[in-house]
Amino acid sequence: MSNIQNKVVIITGASSGIGGATAKELASKGAKLVLAARREDRLKKLQEEIQNNGGQAIYKVADVSSREQMEELAAYTLEKYGKIDVLVNNAGIMPQAFLFKKKVDEWDKMIDVNIKGVLYAIAAVLPSMRERKSGHIINLSSVAGHNIYPGGTVYCGTKHAVRAISEGLRQEEAMSGTNIRVTNVSPGAVSSELLETTSDSEMKAGLDEFYKVAIDADNIARAISFAIEQPSDVGINEMIIRPTVQQG
Ligand SMILES: NC(=O)c1ccc[n+]([C@@H]2O[C@H](COP(=O)([O-])OP(=O)(O)OC[C@H]3O[C@@H](n4cnc5c(N)ncnc54)[C@H](OP(=O)(O)O)[C@@H]3O)[C@@H](O)[C@H]2O)c1
Repeated sequence: MSNIQNKVVIITGASSGIGGATAKELASKGAKLVLAARREDRLKKLQEEIQNNGGQAIYKVADVSSREQMEELAAYTLEKYGKIDVLVNNAGIMPQAFLFKKKVDEWDKMIDVNIKGVLYAIAAVLPSMRERKSGHIINLSSVAGHNIYPGGTVYCGTKHAVRAISEGLRQEEAMSGTNIRVTNVSPGAVSSELLETTSDSEMKAGLDEFYKVAIDADNIARAISFAIEQPSDVGINEMIIRPTVQQG
């Protein structure tokens, strides 16, 4: 039996891209999914697709930048399924621009979604995972969590923060003997709706060019699936997955 079978998995940002692909991949391996994002029509459609293919999924509309909604998401999962085995902390945005353009509202949003959202989701699931002495938290960082480039300053900052949070959480849980695994996933260019969150036309043109080599989100989904299906005493802590031809 797959080590994914019957695992209860919350996926934030499940309404498109990497989150959606991960939902389909894990559903095909027997996971019980809780799909979360803000666009209900997308979540409903994905739930139906998964169910039509014999998988199990429920959904909840939730904004990761709301601490209250993240607590509600965890409570809903516990009410419906009785446990949380895995959190795929995936929701994120990438409105990139040079700092001098002063898109301060976008900086705030990136910090709220990419950093606070990740922390709020961890805060919501950690108590029940610790109680059960079992769990797996998978955070989506990026190659932007390893590199820094002009125009990506704030986005890179948020993704470096995600990587720091992943490693800090891993060390805290390892020293506490809670059996909670932590995986930091750093994709390179992946086809998704992420570029649509960049409002700056100059930056967007550069990104469109850079993303011509982007790989499908399924490739990241399979990497996430690989991390989950390892035996419970094996932690896959860091994964970088780029297009073969991506240099930076
Ligand atoms: N694509 C890439 O090249 C790439 C590379 C490295 C890292 N990543 C990371 O991978 C993750 C997934 O991105 P993606 O490429 O799949 O992009 P995407 O297609 O734009 O998906 C992003 C998801 O996040 C959700 N989301 C955005 N703001 C949210 C909020 N406030 N509350 C809840 N959900 C929210 C969106 O759903 P709603 O709009 O319905 O809420 C959507 O489902 C992100 O963390 C991104 O930074 C992507």
